[in-house]
Amino acid sequence: EYAVVTKDSWVVKRLDTGEPVEKEVHEISWTLDMAEKAGFPHFMLKEIYEQPRAIRDAIHGNRETIGRVAREIANYDRVIFVAMGTSYHAAIAGKYLFQKLAKKIPIVEEASEFRYEFEDLIDENTLLIAITQSGETADTLAAMKLAKRRGAKVLAIVNVVGSMATRIADLTIYTHAGPEIGVAATKTYTTQLTVLTMLAIETAAVLGTVPLERLESLRRALLSVPEFVEKVLELDGSLAELAEELKDRRDFFYIGRGIGVPTALEGALKLKEISYIHAEGLSAGELKHGPLALLEDGVPVVAIAPDGRLFNKMVSNIEESKARGAMIIGLSNRGELSKVADVFIQTPDVDELLSPIVYVVPLQLLAYHLSVLRGNDPDKPRNLAKSVTVE
Ligand code: G6P
Repeated sequence: EYAVVTKDSWVVKRLDTGEPVEKEVHEISWTLDMAEKAGFPHFMLKEIYEQPRAIRDAIHGNRETIGRVAREIANYDRVIFVAMGTSYHAAIAGKYLFQKLAKKIPIVEEASEFRYEFEDLIDENTLLIAITQSGETADTLAAMKLAKRRGAKVLAIVNVVGSMATRIADLTIYTHAGPEIGVAATKTYTTQLTVLTMLAIETAAVLGTVPLERLESLRRALLSVPEFVEKVLELDGSLAELAEELKDRRDFFYIGRGIGVPTALEGALKLKEISYIHAEGLSAGELKHGPLALLEDGVPVVAIAPDGRLFNKMVSNIEESKARGAMIIGLSNRGELSKVADVFIQTPDVDELLSPIVYVVPLQLLAYHLSVLRGNDPDKPRNLAKSVTVE
């Protein structure tokens, strides 16, 4: 097929006969402006700064869809998240949110593993939730096709309108982040987290698994998240200074617990992708089981420590690391962390369940500045592609 486009019309025709072909029309609300740098030195930085707007759009653009999809999710006992890269980290956050709120225990698999290991484990009682910003990642599409073949219901959480994932899925939720040009995912990640939070809240509402007042307070708190993200963006200057101090370090560790785990993984991934510094993200409980052997004087350990049930456990892990000489960069809304951290990053008072959306932003900025200071182009990291369309 080919398209004939004129100033005010278009038509798609068959290559062989020249007959016009009927096509479905999808409106894309992206403007040219959105795809330009708007005064920022890099797309990545612009996209980091766009997050408050993107999160608002993800919330308001999905008001109607979320309830409907949540009613669907509530019907399934077996929920499986599949994704790759940053979207995979969103899936891990989704798992924590669904456990806490909807009292479901989803499975989270990298799509590249799922497609070869789950064939005979999938049936019509399965709901597959595929998370992919591009909607074109080969492994994620393969996982979706496999699930469909086996009779499962497939929900896609996607940024790019009309992408392949949306055509395979039974249900699609758009993240409304707008075009993301930088290879390292930023605003597509925080909008995925936003959508997953809304889905978990509304699924809990359908199932009655959490008191209504708690759900209402989470709904309200989510509306304030864009302002909290604006607040953490104000840390940009101090994060640039911190990057200056850290630019020659060789290894970084990122630790978190509970819903802080995906943030630790994503912080480490951002750093690897664009600064080319070796970084590991892990759950803090795993520290003692190997990684601790690598801690020595001056190795940065970034600790995600929002106030909550696990705060004191995080403090113990921090002290453990400090005793080996690590340099602690602590992120918390609780001021007392400043007593144990070498560098304290004060975050706003956000509900722990919403913390992934807010806490990842300083880590994106830190990775960005380290990338630039080391002479890299953060928009085009070596060896990496925005969407991986081959296996
Ligand atoms: C590539 C990109 C990552 C992205 C991953 C999954 O590796 O560089 O930023 O997280 O693919 O992409 P998807 O479009 O499926 O979210």
